[in-house]
Amino acid sequence: METEVAQKEAPGEPIAYAICSMSDIPSQRARGFQLVRLDENGQEKPFNIVVVRWGKQVFGYENICPHQQVNLDWERNQFMDPNGIRLMCGKHGALFEIGTGTCLDGPCKGDGLTPVPLAVLDNDICVVGIPLAEEVDDDEEEITSCSDEGGGV
Ligand code: FES
Repeated sequence: METEVAQKEAPGEPIAYAICSMSDIPSQRARGFQLVRLDENGQEKPFNIVVVRWGKQVFGYENICPHQQVNLDWERNQFMDPNGIRLMCGKHGALFEIGTGTCLDGPCKGDGLTPVPLAVLDNDICVVGIPLAEEVDDDEEEITSCSDEGGGV
């Protein structure tokens, strides 16, 4: 299955790619996205991220635990701790503050997740300032393609 990301164009603004709609992630939930970014040489590189929605706010981080550089979600899309208020690594239980990505407890305490800049444009959650390949393989889920048709002011 393919994941499509749609480039948003806003004059004078950094490049932005819509990865899903706000409504695709319930509030106080997190969801993983398997994207592909382009490096400075145009080479494609896997870019796995987690997006947390908290009301109208969204927070994005690379889906890599600073402890052992593994994906946080040992069960797919299980990113939250049992209380639902922190991100948690499924391997050794490190807990991360949602708003900053700082590890508050666990083997990498004091380290942090790598932030991914996000913005909400026309109700779409967008990755901002990072060039992405517009179509990537994703064998497990379908992500709504977002476009800015009819949007704008
Ligand atoms: S790999 Fe994440 S806490 Fe150890």
